[in-house]
Amino acid sequence: MQSAADRREALKAVYEQARGCEKCPQLAATRTTVVFGAGNADADLMFVGEAPGANEDKQGLPFVGQAGKLLDKLLEEIGLQRSQVFIANVLKCRPPGNRDPRPNEIEACSDYLHRQVELIEPRVICTLGNFSTKLLRGDPTGISRLHGRAEVHTIGRRAVRLYPLYHPAAALYTPSMLETLRADFQRLPELLALPAPDQPGAIDEIPELEDALEAAAETDLAPEPDADQLGLFD
Ligand code: URA
Repeated sequence: MQSAADRREALKAVYEQARGCEKCPQLAATRTTVVFGAGNADADLMFVGEAPGANEDKQGLPFVGQAGKLLDKLLEEIGLQRSQVFIANVLKCRPPGNRDPRPNEIEACSDYLHRQVELIEPRVICTLGNFSTKLLRGDPTGISRLHGRAEVHTIGRRAVRLYPLYHPAAALYTPSMLETLRADFQRLPELLALPAPDQPGAIDEIPELEDALEAAAETDLAPEPDADQLGLFD
C-alpha cells in the first residue's frame, strides 16, 4: 500500500508527463496550457468534466468559468470547498472552439485520468455529463438516464462509486436541469458516508442507501491548504 505522500509524488510525475504531452497533435498545437486537474491529491470525492474551455486553457485550472462558479456554489451548499475535492477532465487540453472531444483524443488521454483515479483513490467519482460518464462506465448510455444513481465500478484495481451528474455548463441555461443537478448533489454527503465500496455492479438505490447510512461512519474530508494546480505539487 502506497502512502498518501507517495501517491502524491507519483501524481506529480504523471502531471509532468501530461504537461509535455503531444499525443494529439491538434490539441498540443492549439492549447495554451495543459489542464491536468486541481485539488486535494488524497480526496474522497473527485469530479470529472469534459474538457477545458477558454478560461481553463488560459489559467491552467479546471472549472474556473461560469460552470466552475456553479460547481463551487453546489459544493458550498453541501458544506464542501474545492480544496477538499479533486477536479479533473476527460481531456487535459482544450479542443479548439470548444468542440466535442473526439474518440481518438479520449482514448489518447484516458491513461492520465485512470492514473489520477488510481493515485488519488477517491471513494466517489462524480462524472459530469456524457463524456466522462460514458468513458468511466465503459458504456454508451447517456446521462439523462443515469444521473443521480450511484453504481460501484472497478477502475484500475479499486472499486469506486460512480455518481453521474448533469454537467454544470448544461444546467446553467436550463432551470429544470439545474434543479435536478442540485437535488442529485444533495445526496453526495450520504454517498460519502457509506462504507468503502466493494461490490462492482451494485447500484445504490435510495432505501439501501438509508439502511447503510445508519451503520456508516462520518467521512473525514480534511481540507488541504494547497488547492491550485501548481500548489498541489509544491
Ligand atoms: N467544462 C468542463 O467540462 N471542464 C472544465 O474544466 C470547464 C468547463
